[in-house]
Amino acid sequence: MKAVFIVFSPSGHTLIAAQKFMHLLEDNGISCHIINITKNNKYLQNFTITKTLINDLGEHHLLIPCAPVYAGHCEQNMLRTIRALPQEKEKQIPAIPLVTYGGVHSSVALEEMGKVLNDKGYIPIMGIKIAAEHTLTATFKKRINPNLPGKVEEQILAEAAKITEKVVNDKIAMINIEKKLAYAPFMKRIMFRIFSQEKIHGKYKKVTINTEKCTGCKRCVAACPVNMFAYIDNTIQMVRDPKYCILCAECYHQCPAKAVVHPYIEVARKRLSNGFAELENPQSTIYR
Ligand SMILES: Cc1cc2nc3c(=O)[nH]c(=O)nc-3n(C[C@H](O)[C@H](O)[C@H](O)COP(=O)(O)O)c2cc1C
Repeated sequence: MKAVFIVFSPSGHTLIAAQKFMHLLEDNGISCHIINITKNNKYLQNFTITKTLINDLGEHHLLIPCAPVYAGHCEQNMLRTIRALPQEKEKQIPAIPLVTYGGVHSSVALEEMGKVLNDKGYIPIMGIKIAAEHTLTATFKKRINPNLPGKVEEQILAEAAKITEKVVNDKIAMINIEKKLAYAPFMKRIMFRIFSQEKIHGKYKKVTINTEKCTGCKRCVAACPVNMFAYIDNTIQMVRDPKYCILCAECYHQCPAKAVVHPYIEVARKRLSNGFAELENPQSTIYR
């Protein structure tokens, strides 16, 4: 029995949740393998990734795509990756979409992952949402969910591991969960159908480097999960089209010289009431 995790984790919290879940599954006798697409140009800068996926996935009996929620959606690099999965209609492979989010709204993220997995012939057996630090709030008056995922999230993952083991070993009836993942209120679901992540974030993709402040330490190059920067001719340069920036703000947070200009931070500060935003309830749970 082999489970494959596909992980995209710009700031590391999704990877932590995925690794925790992986260890719990391994304790239950399931062998696991992670495909980490973060900073991985084989996935991020390749427009025909199905072949790469087929190679890296190999024979597998369970698929666990893990991504953060961005603007109420599953982050688009993960969505693009699962859209490129090979058709597996005959094999009926179970799948478990997992998202981490800043506790504000996970909205349609699990629903859209479940739908794509269904379209590819995978059978989603549950969806997991895990509350994590809201990475945009690091410089806000109040940080949202600092130090999460924590104990509660670990318990949720342990419960999910038990259910997984039962489903894959005892082959208990697998139900179509697409409807259960549609937990966001109806109007919100309609709104997020209209407003894609790109529509919500597109106009703010204007991150620049203030060359007067930049010391060329290259921390932004190391931090960017989608490899937007390179150090060329003694300066930091943007080497990809700005549309590929995901606004994660890792460059902004890691820059010791405060040389990164990131206009979306102030937009997010307002949208999230400087960290005092209302949070989703329940914060972390399993949708069976
Ligand atoms: C650009 C951006 C958009 C985000 N949008 C949401 C959101 O819509 N709802 C939410 O609760 N959290 C949101 N978050 C918070 C992340 O989902 C959360 O911090 C996640 O755990 C980050 O995962 P990572 O550490 O693996 O990158 C957003 C974060 C960023 C950077």
